Amino acid sequence: MTARVLDGLKIRDEIFAELRRQAVDLYLQQHVRAGLAAVLVGDDPASQLYVKSKIEACHHLGLASWMHTPSASSTTDDLLKLVDDLNRDYRVDGILIQLPLPKQVDTKRVLEAVDPAKDVDGFHPINLGKLVSNRPGLVACTPAGCMEILRRNQIPIEGANAVVLGRSDIVGKPMALLLMHANATVTICHSKTRDLPDVVRRADIVVAAMGKAGYVAADWIKPGAAVIDVGTNKVTDPAEATALLKNFPRRLEKFHAKGSVLIGDVHPDAINAAGALTPVPGGVGPMTITMLMSNTIKAAKLRRGDSTAPPSPSPDTQKDTAQQNTTPSAAGAR
Ligand code: GUN
Repeated sequence: MTARVLDGLKIRDEIFAELRRQAVDLYLQQHVRAGLAAVLVGDDPASQLYVKSKIEACHHLGLASWMHTPSASSTTDDLLKLVDDLNRDYRVDGILIQLPLPKQVDTKRVLEAVDPAKDVDGFHPINLGKLVSNRPGLVACTPAGCMEILRRNQIPIEGANAVVLGRSDIVGKPMALLLMHANATVTICHSKTRDLPDVVRRADIVVAAMGKAGYVAADWIKPGAAVIDVGTNKVTDPAEATALLKNFPRRLEKFHAKGSVLIGDVHPDAINAAGALTPVPGGVGPMTITMLMSNTIKAAKLRRGDSTAPPSPSPDTQKDTAQQNTTPSAAGAR
């Protein structure tokens, strides 16, 4: 049987509609226009594309946004100064430092300098600590998005055996904590895990986030399991693409036309074993930006929802040296 496809674009649209309403309410009731400051250091094309999408999402929801683009030769001190300015700017609810930073920069120091109340990526140790102890805070966007996919598709989590493949600070570890807090029994697997296929075969929920194209074989998946595929691996080798897509002739044709294909960490054949599965692309991918927007509004509510901060000035009175979204439509007018 073919798995139910867990459509990330559909869930993104659903959440965007909710966020637009929240942004309007915040503006009308508290005169707060939630705002995100994005910091893009250097000129890496992939990072430029990611940040552009994040700024566009702000426009779409009527949030204020500022883009800061320090040069690739910026020092740690330059970035600490910028972060300090953004921490002090009451209009800025969320600060996003696009990673990776240039190698001369101490990334940890820069990330730890972000005010935890504005840490919309959920990378600050204070927010990680809150997640460990299941207290409210800002949670990393990709794992938070995976939880939304599970919840909004009514996939039972309580009591389920969940296996998380990958132990990164920004996906694997927070994902395992979120599943545990939702009362799943969680196993975290990594490169040294023994009998990996057998561990995965016991899972009702599999979250694959180790960054290896098609690594999780279809016959590792328990029939009917829910599979969340976080991987987005660009495959360019024709032999590899042919092996991965032998049962998907139309995708293989597209690969030959384009010269590359995006493959998740789960083998495409798993569609015939799983009960439900996120596609790549179009599954977890769109959820990361969605949860960034959600975190920005959440941060605005937590920081300013009590009306103790001065009201947001109308966008045309805002002065900033950064490129700025000055769309004057009240939050969420489109
Ligand atoms: N670079 C790649 N993914 C991410 C992300 O989720 N957040 C940030 N800040 N940088 C990234």
